[in-house]
Amino acid sequence: MNLKKIAGYEVAKEVKDGEIVGLGTGSTTNYFIEKLGKRIKDEEMEIMGVPTSYQSFILAKELNIPITTLDEHDIDIAIDGADEIDTDLNLIKGGGAAHTLEKIVDYSAKNFIVISDETKLVENLGNFPVPLEIISKAVKPVFSALKDLGSEPSVRMAKYKVGPVISDNGNFIVDAKFPIVNNPINLETDLNSIPGVVENGIFSQMTDKAIIACENGIKKINF
Ligand code: 5RP
Repeated sequence: MNLKKIAGYEVAKEVKDGEIVGLGTGSTTNYFIEKLGKRIKDEEMEIMGVPTSYQSFILAKELNIPITTLDEHDIDIAIDGADEIDTDLNLIKGGGAAHTLEKIVDYSAKNFIVISDETKLVENLGNFPVPLEIISKAVKPVFSALKDLGSEPSVRMAKYKVGPVISDNGNFIVDAKFPIVNNPINLETDLNSIPGVVENGIFSQMTDKAIIACENGIKKINF
């Protein structure tokens, strides 16, 4: 069973005609965008998407989903995946290095729904390292501050290019492994207080609803 596909297709039912939709990033969200494109075509819906990455922009264009920007429209509903989801719907995101724009789009939406398969559900965040987008010249001081906060940081290296991953915004990505994230709300603020950090991948207190595809059915939270 492809649980990511089940979650992505299920959440597409939540979008209403006329809405402005935040298009998250990642393999789960790709299924959502695919299904949304099909609904727009089949049901002649008037929808506009606000992409959160080159990946979601390119896919939306391929599927003829009209694109707009935050400058032009407010977002009614945003749909996005996650790397970890805790019991209060706090998230770790940024496995695809797109968390800066994802956070801007998801946060500004009137309704933000996270989608995933059941493997992403955790009691406490922290098994997945926290991604941070940082200014490349700030590696040394940012590493020092991250170590003081109890984490082990590493610069994310690219697989199909030499050297580090460069984000859609032209910055480095650092993955900071914490033993456990006890207080995601405080940690999100603390990480963004480090000079040189553009944005971190903790999304606390911003998820409205969740659709989790499990082997034994679909779990809907806060619906
Ligand atoms: C990208 C993200 C993704 O939403 C997250 O990594 C989940 O990806 P996938 O759906 O491929 O498992 O935060 O920056």
